[in-house]
Amino acid sequence: MHLKPVIAANWKLNHGPTDAKAFLQRFLAQTPKLNDRTLVFLPSALTVTTVIDGLRERPEIWVGVQNVHSEAQGAFTGENSVLMARDAGARVVLVGHSERRHVFGETDSQTTAKMAMIAQARLVPMLCVGELLAEREAGRTAEVVERQLAAGLAGLDDQQIATIMLAYEPVWAIGTGRTATPQDASEIHGVLRRALISRVGEKVAGSIPILYGGSVNRGNASQLLAAPDVDGLLVGGASLEADSWASIARA
Ligand code: PGA
Repeated sequence: MHLKPVIAANWKLNHGPTDAKAFLQRFLAQTPKLNDRTLVFLPSALTVTTVIDGLRERPEIWVGVQNVHSEAQGAFTGENSVLMARDAGARVVLVGHSERRHVFGETDSQTTAKMAMIAQARLVPMLCVGELLAEREAGRTAEVVERQLAAGLAGLDDQQIATIMLAYEPVWAIGTGRTATPQDASEIHGVLRRALISRVGEKVAGSIPILYGGSVNRGNASQLLAAPDVDGLLVGGASLEADSWASIARA
């Protein structure tokens, strides 16, 4: 089974509108239309409109946001909603990134609510799961990612589940330079695929891209992408520089 790979740039707290314009100019100059993969930019909410404008001639490239609040509107100072993301032209929303979970204390029940809100708004939720180093060392990786996946899917019906993307990002590999091997990635992607199959059956489960993230760079991208059950890449640090990101986009 071969899904069209999804290769996503998570800019985290980097690149305001001015930087983003310069980045896109340099990136687009060396990146022809790639029909065999889907590229996704996940800039900060303040930069989303600039990136969408900058990609107006390249509608095959998707743009999304890194987080939304679980309510559509209301008295939640400082937050962004899925309705605003959709209105701005975003197509994807990252949910449950490990920094949301472990730096901002986001709980499984918050990811449940956000996933449901995003699916209702007909945007694509990209659910991130991944274990801490201590959990891996205790042999609990499968249990942790299965729990996070179950929470992410808890408020979705089968039709909505068919629209999601998943990202396996072992926390110990994020921003550390320590990458999971392609075998490590495949093993856990297999765990996730089997969990999806038992929830929605082979056909739908087989159509959900499972991305790997954690210290992906231009040196390891194609090997990771070639691993069984790895359907894409979620890239942080190495997506911040246009030449590096352009080379990973072509991996
Ligand atoms: P990294 O981040 O590529 O810098 O490890 C990946 C992510 O957190 O999505």
